[in-house]
Amino acid sequence: MTHSTPSPEDPAPQRNHIRSFVLRQGRVSNAQQRYYDEGMPRWGIVYQPALLDLSGVFGTHAPLILEIGCGMGETTAMIAAARPECNFIGIEVHTPGVGSLLKEIATRELNNLRVIQHDAVEVVRDMIAPGTLAGIHIFFPDPWPKKRHHKRRLIQPAFVHQLALRLAPCGYIHCATDWEEYALQMLEVFSGEALLQNTARGFALRPGYRPQTKFETRGLRLGHGVWDVIFTRRPAESAATAR
Ligand SMILES: C[S@@+](CC[C@H](N)C(=O)[O-])C[C@H]1O[C@@H](n2cnc3c(N)ncnc32)[C@H](O)[C@@H]1O
Repeated sequence: MTHSTPSPEDPAPQRNHIRSFVLRQGRVSNAQQRYYDEGMPRWGIVYQPALLDLSGVFGTHAPLILEIGCGMGETTAMIAAARPECNFIGIEVHTPGVGSLLKEIATRELNNLRVIQHDAVEVVRDMIAPGTLAGIHIFFPDPWPKKRHHKRRLIQPAFVHQLALRLAPCGYIHCATDWEEYALQMLEVFSGEALLQNTARGFALRPGYRPQTKFETRGLRLGHGVWDVIFTRRPAESAATAR
């Protein structure tokens, strides 16, 4: 796999940002370990602080969708199977989830989905070139409900700006959450990003391509609501006037 030097637009590498996850020693089942061992060399992309050569990764030119925090990966795989005209990269830190996602890729024989096991903040910063993504999915990111933990939330102005820079013009970013107060934060942060515009008035309806996720099912069982937020990258000239 070939890489090139990071874009000068990116900030200097910082390794000390606050992480949006805590690495737990979750149990890895035998099946997850087997699929992990067999699947990582085929479908895994190793994190490197260098831009990804996408044609080297997929061998095809197709719109690229990035998913951050795939969890166990069922939803990621369902979407990739339903949208063969797009390529997908799923990012997840936890080994059991990565093993499950690799199982989905193997059993569904998906050739448009790859996996990176690394902190998505660093993957976006170091590996994804500006203007290259057709879409970004962040479904049910950890809500970090306690106020003193809000700084751990993924959806913050600085990270959303980095994500927006990596969208191609008219590319979309789609978040969903079952935590109302986080949903309002998402709406506020996205609305404050000059590169983005809302596709709806406020929250969006769940589009047909997003199946119900595992965490969503759990949230619904607990009586939570669900909120989708979908913004697109403005064309260059309209972003300048939106400032
Ligand atoms: C609440 S789960 C949701 C999983 C899945 N999207 C779903 O809806 O079922 C959030 C996931 O995001 C992952 N995650 C959180 N921060 C991350 C980061 N910075 N980079 C990669 N994965 C991250 C966690 O490990 C966890 O699996």
